[in-house]
Amino acid sequence: MVAPVPEPTPLSLPPALMSAADRERARDARGFMPEAEGLLLHRAALAAAARGPMLEIGGYCGKSAIYLGCAARERDGVLFSVDHHRGSEENQPGQLYCDPEVVDPRSGRLDSLPHFRRTLEAAALEEWVIAIVGTSTLVSAHWRTALSLLFIDGGHTEEAAEADYAGFGRHLDSGGLLAIHDVFPDPADGGQAPYHVYLRALDDGLHEVAATGSMRVLRR
Ligand SMILES: C[S@@+](CC[C@H](N)C(=O)[O-])C[C@H]1O[C@@H](n2cnc3c(N)ncnc32)[C@H](O)[C@@H]1O
Repeated sequence: MVAPVPEPTPLSLPPALMSAADRERARDARGFMPEAEGLLLHRAALAAAARGPMLEIGGYCGKSAIYLGCAARERDGVLFSVDHHRGSEENQPGQLYCDPEVVDPRSGRLDSLPHFRRTLEAAALEEWVIAIVGTSTLVSAHWRTALSLLFIDGGHTEEAAEADYAGFGRHLDSGGLLAIHDVFPDPADGGQAPYHVYLRALDDGLHEVAATGSMRVLRR
């Protein structure tokens, strides 16, 4: 009788390795991520970071980059953080999620880059987090490096979220982790674009490893 092929072992994420000071810095950083979701992201990054570079789309003021960057530092890895730093639709002056402190008084335009730099400097993570200032579609068109982890938290329109998955998802290594933020299966809870990306990833054969709040972690 042929022995049954064992199921692949489910990836169990390691426990968080963040100091109380780093956790406080992450909590205090401007941004849109509850701590429980950030800690899940951090644990996923701990599992991935030694295997190769990680990349996030949507650095904003550096909150998620602290969670990811602390894991990169712990594992001698690196995080590339892609953002044009001009904000998403909902961050623009006059919109619901606009923080006036992130508007450049000189130009009247949103500019999260100085905040991002200050956050990473204060967390002593500049060695492990590299900012790429540009539009994700343009960066992905030139990207050639395999990724151990991809975190999608950029533009939340269908077009932007799909383009981010299509552009960078193909660089996710076998065994690599895909984290998606703001996944809301119920439209009453939020926009559907990240959820549609999540469904597309499942359809592409990735499987879910962990979920907390609106954060989903899948493995290729
Ligand atoms: C929801 S915020 C990211 C929040 C961040 N991850 C945090 O932890 O606070 C989305 C970010 O994506 C950026 N963004 C939106 N569309 C983009 C695009 N096409 N290319 C690059 N960045 C983009 C915006 O500038 C904004 O900073």
